[in-house]
Amino acid sequence: METKKMLKIEALSKKIKQHEIINDLNLTVDSGELIHIMGINGSGKSTLFKIIANIMEPSSGTVTLFENVEIGALIENPSFMETSTAKENMKFLSQINHHYNEKRISDLFSKLDLDYNSREKINKYSLGMRQKVGIIQAIMENQNLILLDEPTRGLDKKALETFGQMVMELIGEGKSIIIASHENLSELEFTTRYELVEGDLQKL
Ligand SMILES: Nc1ncnc2c1ncn2[C@@H]1O[C@H](COP(=O)(O)OP(=O)(O)OP(=O)(O)O)[C@@H](O)[C@H]1O
Ligand SMILES: [Mg+2]
Repeated sequence: METKKMLKIEALSKKIKQHEIINDLNLTVDSGELIHIMGINGSGKSTLFKIIANIMEPSSGTVTLFENVEIGALIENPSFMETSTAKENMKFLSQINHHYNEKRISDLFSKLDLDYNSREKINKYSLGMRQKVGIIQAIMENQNLILLDEPTRGLDKKALETFGQMVMELIGEGKSIIIASHENLSELEFTTRYELVEGDLQKL
């Protein structure tokens, strides 16, 4: 498969109240790359993802998305329409982009042992179940640049294994995935690993 450029971050900085959270950070991501960004609590992982996903403005620097790049993101605790079912939520979220694909979404639910037709409201879901729905919404529209912030939080052993398989499948399709976590996700075969230290990425 031909490699394409997906994302280029240049001289990115984010200051909040005199505090340098992201500090002159550069990163390029190509198709088919599985990138790990490790960082301790408060190191700026979620902030970096919010800037890439364009839900937060940087103080300076640029984030360039190349042609046909669509971002899917799970950042911190995903918000849902709490008194609606998972299906109502997924329909609503994917119809914003006219991308509702019921077959794809219900297959993802089955893979993660969730019932897509459950009548239970999202606010009754367990932490792990919510996390699974959060992962699904980040990939369900066939997005090709996927940001996953602490995606394994709350997942049991079986879900972790399925998650690993899903990630490898997406990479095999030429998508790019950036995973941020504080822990070493040794079960995944990353193409590149970085540590976020003092607002900048250091290659591991
Ligand atoms: N809106 C905000 N106002 C002030 N400070 C903020 C804001 N958002 C983040 N910060 C600060 O930026 C730093 C980085 O936060 P961020 O949430 O990006 O870290 P993180 O690496 O995702 O941490 P965690 O592992 O706990 O999720 C922290 O020091 C935090 O206090
Ligand atoms: Mg975070």
